[in-house]
Amino acid sequence: MSAGQNFYITTPIYYVNDKPHIGHAYTSLACDVLARFKRMDGYNVHFLTGTDEHGQKVEQSAEKAGIDPQKFTDNVSQNFRDLAKAMNFSNDDFIRTTEERHKEACQAIWNKLVETGDIYLGAYAGWYAIRDEAFYTETELVDGPNGNKIAPTGAEVEWLEEPSYFFKLSAWEDKLLELYESNPDFIAPKSRRNEVLSFVKGGLKDLSVSRTTFSWGVPVPNDDDHIMYVWLDALTNYLTAAGYPDMEKQSFKDFWPASLHMVGKDILRFHAVYWPAFLMAADIPLPERVFAHGWWTNEGQKISKSLGNVIDPLDLIEKYGLDQTRYFLMREVPFGNDGDFAHEAMVGRMNTDLANDIGNLCQRVMSMIFKNCDAQFPEFGDFTDEDKALMTMADEALVKTRDLINQQSFHKALEAIWAVVGEANRYVDAQAPWALRKTDIDRMKTVLYVLADTIRKLGLLIRPFMPESADKMLDLLQVSENSRDFSAYGEVLKSGVAIEKPVGIFPRFVDEEADA
Ligand code: MSP
Repeated sequence: MSAGQNFYITTPIYYVNDKPHIGHAYTSLACDVLARFKRMDGYNVHFLTGTDEHGQKVEQSAEKAGIDPQKFTDNVSQNFRDLAKAMNFSNDDFIRTTEERHKEACQAIWNKLVETGDIYLGAYAGWYAIRDEAFYTETELVDGPNGNKIAPTGAEVEWLEEPSYFFKLSAWEDKLLELYESNPDFIAPKSRRNEVLSFVKGGLKDLSVSRTTFSWGVPVPNDDDHIMYVWLDALTNYLTAAGYPDMEKQSFKDFWPASLHMVGKDILRFHAVYWPAFLMAADIPLPERVFAHGWWTNEGQKISKSLGNVIDPLDLIEKYGLDQTRYFLMREVPFGNDGDFAHEAMVGRMNTDLANDIGNLCQRVMSMIFKNCDAQFPEFGDFTDEDKALMTMADEALVKTRDLINQQSFHKALEAIWAVVGEANRYVDAQAPWALRKTDIDRMKTVLYVLADTIRKLGLLIRPFMPESADKMLDLLQVSENSRDFSAYGEVLKSGVAIEKPVGIFPRFVDEEADA
């Protein structure tokens, strides 16, 4: 274990022109699981999330709502804080791009880029999609439904002509390719890395990094007519939160460069091409890794406001439970792939993996200990090969899970944990402690002890994914607060410690409408 090492993980900062939905919850959840795992593994973690509050889209949404943009962003940003609380995210900071600390960081990086000669004043003429806050070349455009040209993302584009500052992105092409070559893990998963590679190999044009036609943004230093391009502003949030521009600050020394930027596949280009180019130009060390996850659909359909099928994470929590939702989102889809949200699948996971597999295991074993061992952890005798096999498997599960979590392979990590759950269930059936009660009480005690200690390990392993349920399990097992991390994984339960009457932790899904 690397005790005391630093780990800085970030979510994208969310646009405030919309209500939070499942996509936002998903990106942050993956970061939360990683942050919690790393903390349990002894790391000094800094987990950042926040809101992206500038840009034309926000200005327009505020105008439509008839309120001034600052007030508008105050309101919507709060929804994202509320979501973080409802999802039990353990973020250490919540950044808003309208904060003073951020404006200062943006202007500092801007000045640095002017100083290094990487920003120059020119004029922009081209296609701009407000929805994506992105520029497109003529060749990137596709035919829209009304015969008009639209962005490849489906967003409408408009022709823009205005004076603009440019970032010399074209000068960084070779350096970027070198970066990808020498750091094969910088972009994950592999398929996405290849996309970025071919995009950069296709040639990079200088990037327009200021706008003059609206005003809701960070002012460009020494030129009042311009505000900064929202992506330069937004990406800089990762530096701001570490303490930039004060690079001598302890937080900056501890947490920069970031260990991992977690993003959705749609915004990988900004993080894997523009961001490292800005940083290299500004002579700031690069983040270690960018992981792009896939997108959710709803019962097979693309999620969109116009289809009215947006999934509100708060509804999921209310209907299925918080940890059930967290588990489903991390288990159902190979992380990195697109996935589908279906009620059937959710209920399947909730009732099978949770209620039946781990819930029953815990309930059965703890009830037998409560009833047949005087409500205390039993003494144990010599371990048989079967006992040892289960104990070894549970020990190795931590190593496997850690490795998979470090690859952001959350679904496989859960699979590895559930392999132990499955084995423990087979062990209960094979050892049949209820029969041993009549034939060999000492052996029954050893079997129940082995099971209880396996459940303790399972409680620790699932804790980053389902913190509340795991803590209920560990409460039942009388595990003290300071033994709830991975340094205590190898500790064992103490025989003779009293337990309370066990309560169920993973309820089955009850379809109230069907029952009514
Ligand atoms: N503001 C920018 C990010 C700036 S980071 C310096 C932005 N914001 S966003 O609110 O539009 O999107 C934030 C994240 O939500 C992205 O990672 C995006 O991929 C994710 N999702 C949005 N819809 C999604 C799904 N339907 N499914 C999964 N994730 C999706 O982009």
